[in-house]
Amino acid sequence: MDQEVIFAPTLRSECLTMTLYDADCDSQFICDFWNVVAGSNPPWTDDMLCRFMKNTTLSPHNCLGRKPTRPLVYIIHLGSQTGPAIGTINISERNPAIPPDIGYAIHSDYRRRGYAFEAAACVLSYWHNSLGLKDIVAFCHPANTISNKLIQKLGFERGGEATLEIGEVLVNAYVLPGMSVTLTAATRFGRMGVDKVE
Ligand SMILES: CC(C)(COP(=O)(O)OP(=O)(O)OC[C@H]1O[C@@H](n2cnc3c(N)ncnc32)[C@H](O)[C@@H]1OP(=O)(O)O)[C@@H](O)C(=O)NCCC(=O)NCCS
Repeated sequence: MDQEVIFAPTLRSECLTMTLYDADCDSQFICDFWNVVAGSNPPWTDDMLCRFMKNTTLSPHNCLGRKPTRPLVYIIHLGSQTGPAIGTINISERNPAIPPDIGYAIHSDYRRRGYAFEAAACVLSYWHNSLGLKDIVAFCHPANTISNKLIQKLGFERGGEATLEIGEVLVNAYVLPGMSVTLTAATRFGRMGVDKVE
């Protein structure tokens, strides 16, 4: 029988506090934030966000046989958890057949201060050291120079490529050292993940 895993409600790093996404109070913030920061088209709505969160919650086979009770999405706060929300960081299962991927966004007013690196390093360390999970990938459009640099600074290595289904775009795929996964153009993933059947 699956063992349930409850992710840490808060993670702390030197300058930041990450709070686990709570559908009751964070949905509006995330829709607004992703619409502005990620320039999303079509725009995020409550219904889309709900579908995304359900679809991208890790399956037990991507989580050492344990069943997550929530998606692994954190709101990044500057300072304490009552400090301003400046970003999001998430580990999402876009497709049950491939390892989950890391994603992040920082509000434009707070960029270039090391916060994305700090938040990602904190979540990756939690993932590895506390949850014992080894497999995580990253996808990045080749033109997103900043994010490609950040991924490599975090220790990821090129692990092939993948196809983002919206527009059939070929993106760079990255893996962590020691992972045996190599991704190819035949590896497909969508923004909304794959619809999960209850
Ligand atoms: C990508 C993003 C999260 C970076 O956030 P950030 O907090 O500014 O990043 P950091 O300050 O932690 O920088 C980490 C590394 O990224 C790279 N980087 C960040 N900003 C950069 C810039 N303006 N120019 C070049 N490299 C940059 C550098 O390698 C930097 O390390 P360094 O400071 O040692 O040089 C932010 O630009 C963002 O939200 N972009 C829009 C959303 C997005 O593209 N998400 C990723 C989708 S794959």
